Amino acid sequence: MEERVYAINHPLIQHKLSIMRDKNTSVKDFRSCAYEIGLLLGYEATHDMELEEYEIETPIQKTVAKRTKRKVALVPILRAGLGMVDAMMELIPAAKIGHIGLYRNEKTLEPVEYYCKMPTDIEEREVLVLDPMLATGGSAKDAISMIKKRGAKNIKFICIIAAPDGIKALREAHPDVDIYCGAVDERLNEHGYIVPGLGDAGDRLFGTL
Ligand code: PRP
Ligand code: URA
Repeated sequence: MEERVYAINHPLIQHKLSIMRDKNTSVKDFRSCAYEIGLLLGYEATHDMELEEYEIETPIQKTVAKRTKRKVALVPILRAGLGMVDAMMELIPAAKIGHIGLYRNEKTLEPVEYYCKMPTDIEEREVLVLDPMLATGGSAKDAISMIKKRGAKNIKFICIIAAPDGIKALREAHPDVDIYCGAVDERLNEHGYIVPGLGDAGDRLFGTL
């Protein structure tokens, strides 16, 4: 696997992802699995968070304890990225949340921007961009450019399934951004969908099929 691309082939992720891929899975179960995979990916993607030491007193004696140093911003790409936010907030309850609204034009596959609202101190934060699907990479590339324009420097991208084309496009556009994914699938089909994939993540999460 390419440098700075982390495919987390954990058995629990593979198990839950199989449920998400199954077209007969209900909206409720699809959502639950997105949440649970979000927890597992979030755990992996935060493995190198910086720590600082501070003094506390346990019931026994004083000791030097550790806490995370950098503040975090979570940025879901609407709509489907919302399916991973609750899990990440569970892990990092003090995180601030930015939102980016993008959808793919179904003919050109180019992302169309319709919303962007970031925490005002985004440049001081470690930014975790969330979207279950990295297909052509157009949406992730644009979202990260929008975040960088607002001053953020420390950015990671977390997705559930990535296509090789999307990884390549994102690496070329933003070589400083680490990519964490639950699986790397085979390819894109002629409509820009990931194969075998799981279909349209937003529609399956929100029941708009
Ligand atoms: C999906 C997905 C990504 C994008 C990936 O969103 O959630 O944002 O497609 O495709 P790309 O890598 O080729 O850009 P979609 O555009 O379907 O919008 P939605 O989440 O509102 O349904
Ligand atoms: N967006 C999705 O939701 N699914 C894909 O397979 C590709 C883009």
